[in-house]
Amino acid sequence: MADLSLRNIRKSYANLEVLHGIDLDIKSGEFVVFVGPSGCGKSTLLRSIAGLETITSGDLIIDGERINNVAPSKRGISMVFQSYALYPHMTVYENMAFGLRIAGLSKAEVDKRVRNAAGILQLDNYLQRLPKALSGGQRQRVAIGRAIVRDPRVFLFDEPLSNLDAALRVATRIEIAKLKQSMPDVTMIYVTHDQVEAMTLADRIVVFKDGYIEQVGTPIELYRNPANLFVAQFIGSPAMNILEGKAEKDPTGSMKCILDCGVALDLGLLPDGVSVGDRVSVGIRPENTQIADARANGAVFTGTIDFVEHLGEVQILYVDLAGSGRKYLIKAYGERSYARMDRIRFTARAQDIHAFDVNGAAIAKRVSPVGEPTFG
Ligand SMILES: Nc1ncnc2c1ncn2[C@@H]1O[C@H](COP(=O)(O)OP(=O)(O)OP(=O)(O)O)[C@@H](O)[C@H]1O
Ligand SMILES: [Mg+2]
Repeated sequence: MADLSLRNIRKSYANLEVLHGIDLDIKSGEFVVFVGPSGCGKSTLLRSIAGLETITSGDLIIDGERINNVAPSKRGISMVFQSYALYPHMTVYENMAFGLRIAGLSKAEVDKRVRNAAGILQLDNYLQRLPKALSGGQRQRVAIGRAIVRDPRVFLFDEPLSNLDAALRVATRIEIAKLKQSMPDVTMIYVTHDQVEAMTLADRIVVFKDGYIEQVGTPIELYRNPANLFVAQFIGSPAMNILEGKAEKDPTGSMKCILDCGVALDLGLLPDGVSVGDRVSVGIRPENTQIADARANGAVFTGTIDFVEHLGEVQILYVDLAGSGRKYLIKAYGERSYARMDRIRFTARAQDIHAFDVNGAAIAKRVSPVGEPTFG
């Protein structure tokens, strides 16, 4: 059991505040992933929870107990860093046992815990090796093992896989997912820059920007219903296309958006979400864009392909959107192959079109918009 509550956490370095009042409740056994641009405060918050930084104000609460003044080693928290920071002169076994010996555990207890962790992480055959005789992935597993043996209530990972090559990242990501399954009561917070890690590992994702939380939600909530332009463009790869335009009412009273590129979209906006004349932004994901045939009518974009990336199962089309001077990215699946200078028409389903007000906040839409753009 380890419910973790962060209440109005602020952190300043000298005169510079880098966390501006973070509020977050994490349930026992939850796997929460922190994402956000470099410098937004993810590591600072993790280190503050672990007690490696003192917070300037606010409350850190585990299972109802305020731990602000509890020593790091007494918080029941283990942290795994990007750099494995193993002791080079100690074997794998010794690296995992060291902290426990310092803490005064009996030899038998230390042995039991090390062998248990080694079993979980498939390190049994490496216990007598020195770190220099291990691969990067194996070293990171030792670092995780060193955290496991402490039997923590809360597990913190700060970009643990970012030093590994692509194949090893995938393998170790799956190890971490399995580790979570084998420790269902342990609360985990995991920082990553990797979209796939965030989407696949998280029960909930927390998106940070400049020391504030932008949005908290399940991966699919953030993907489907981003609260603002920042989250919309941060979650998903390649990023959501953003187009600008102006809100207008058509003769039936329905709210439309006339985009700067000339295309008119009926977005099914709630009437109180936006006023006539407002600048609005519209977002469409590359993977939610459909190539339309010549017969398609309604809200259809046109453009010229500037560049094609062939990724095997999908082609990424970099399109110069007609009438706007903007680039628009499309993920094109299927057999048809595309080439530079091809002129194409494309569209998207109304439910896949996101709308944002002039401040970047998502505008609520009617559940079933009228005047769906048709698609070919
Ligand atoms: N010891 C320090 N002294 C002064 N400023 C610091 C210190 N540590 C971090 N900062 C600043 O605090 C801000 C947040 O840094 P932090 O390391 O938490 O970012 P991050 O989100 O982990 O970034 P990254 O994704 O690059 O790891 C940055 O502006 C950073 O320069
Ligand atoms: Mg960091």
